[in-house]
Amino acid sequence: MPDGDPNILNLPEHSITLGQPVVTNGYGVPSKYETNLLRRESPGLTRVGAASVSFAPLQGLFGIITPSGLHFERHHQGWHDIDPSKHRFMINGLVKNPKVYTMDDLMRLPSVSRMHFIECGANTAMEWGNVAVPTVQYSHGMLSCCEFTGVPLSVLLEDCGYDKKNGKFVLAEGADGSSMTRTISMDRALDDVIVAWGMNGEMLRPENGYPLRLVVPGVQGVSWVKWLRRIEVGDKPYATKDEAIHYIDAMPDGMYRQYTSIQECKSVITTPSAGQMLLDKGFYNITGLAWSGRGKIKRVDVSVDGGRNWRTARLEGPVNTKCLTRFNINWAWDGAPVVLQSRAIDDTGYVQPKINELREVRGTRSIYHNNAIQSWKVSESGEVSNVQVY
Ligand code: MTE
Repeated sequence: MPDGDPNILNLPEHSITLGQPVVTNGYGVPSKYETNLLRRESPGLTRVGAASVSFAPLQGLFGIITPSGLHFERHHQGWHDIDPSKHRFMINGLVKNPKVYTMDDLMRLPSVSRMHFIECGANTAMEWGNVAVPTVQYSHGMLSCCEFTGVPLSVLLEDCGYDKKNGKFVLAEGADGSSMTRTISMDRALDDVIVAWGMNGEMLRPENGYPLRLVVPGVQGVSWVKWLRRIEVGDKPYATKDEAIHYIDAMPDGMYRQYTSIQECKSVITTPSAGQMLLDKGFYNITGLAWSGRGKIKRVDVSVDGGRNWRTARLEGPVNTKCLTRFNINWAWDGAPVVLQSRAIDDTGYVQPKINELREVRGTRSIYHNNAIQSWKVSESGEVSNVQVY
């Protein structure tokens, strides 16, 4: 028997037999060898799975698009698979012609397709006080990015003749049992908000709002109302339960901030990240994601010494507005313990803060809008873990 790799020397079955025919799977599924990459629920986070969250496996994803089957989920009262032929979407309130649209009515209108990130305002919520979760999936996985297709809300508001003088806000309402309702300012509604049915080139998945959801670029996920059934035009904010008592920021002085919708500039290294293991000293590609609810990512810096020195990473195109941006940087590990960090800067000049800088302003009692720099420690053994560095 000659020396050598048996995987090369012995012809495998797949090289000498007929493969499976076309349409073995009418709808393709991942390889049976890729079963570990799944959305995951954090045990004990909520009492019932219908009012819970599943996190996207950021550590195993490439580029910027989240595959539809791995998009994170956040439901207040569970998800349903709604019959699109029975779904109705209504616009009323301060409009000349209140209207009810069927899905067919909507889908014949001029549509747009745009890539945007969606991040739950509660992403990284567990880390306000101290290190809490073991992997990037749980610390940052309430984040996804897709190409969404739909009709601009501005087109529909014009179609209904919205009151240009008094119509200052809209209320978006979902059809699920959670009575999910959110106020959006008219400026934003007319800007880049989409009434969307498409996600990554096909219809939305039921978990993500099929057949219709609101896409509100740059704004926290809760405003991206799923199973969208109604938009009301009004003259003042609605102060609904999901904006008056939930999704508010606890401040150190005991007061709460409301309507802090924008997801500020943030980044995270996805590989190497906590829970992973470096094999050996030598070359590694450090890679991660950066995003800003205010526009485009201008720069991402990476530190391998806990924030003392920074190098500028390569941004991989496309660099779109209110969209995930992939960054990469070369690194040679010398085998000594290190702390890896990334710091994003957006095109407004905003710099992602350190955790102690954020705590100085926001305290530690908040749930929402933690956009602090994330630290991963690589120990001598190559084990990567979640740490906080001040
Ligand atoms: N819309 C309705 N109707 N019901 C909901 O429970 N959850 C909101 C938002 N829209 C929700 C909803 C929250 S809190 C978030 S973060 C996003 O949907 C999550 O969207 P996803 O499940 O597609 O990731």
